Amino acid sequence: MPGLTAYAGFYEVCSPKKGDYVYVSAASGAVGQLVGQFAKWLGCYVVGSAGSKEKVELLKNKFSFDVAFNYKSQTWLLH
Ligand SMILES: NC(=O)c1ccc[n+]([C@@H]2O[C@H](COP(=O)([O-])OP(=O)(O)OC[C@H]3O[C@@H](n4cnc5c(N)ncnc54)[C@H](OP(=O)(O)O)[C@@H]3O)[C@@H](O)[C@H]2O)c1
Repeated sequence: MPGLTAYAGFYEVCSPKKGDYVYVSAASGAVGQLVGQFAKWLGCYVVGSAGSKEKVELLKNKFSFDVAFNYKSQTWLLH
């Protein structure tokens, strides 16, 4: 179900194009982490936010987000 939600929401609703800038809230959640990876595969520049240092590191180091930040502490992980 999270995969279908992410797929339909990203590809069908957002109609993204390569090179688009994509922001994902709740990015480490079941839907958000898939949306971020779909966006990277498409060739988008992807920014994600999450609520802990561990989640932000996951976004950068495992899911290849271009930028990730903790919306609670406002700590940013850039390139
Ligand atoms: N899973 C599905 O199949 C499905 C289907 C249809 C719709 N949806 C909707 O899609 C959304 C995400 O679902 P999910 O399954 O990915 O949920 P999830 O895995 O439970 O992740 C939700 C995340 O949202 C973040 N969050 C909570 N309060 C927040 C706030 N005030 N501001 C910003 N982020 C907040 C939390 O992460 P942080 O610790 O990073 O804040 C939480 O882990 C929900 O609204 C859900 O109702 C999901």
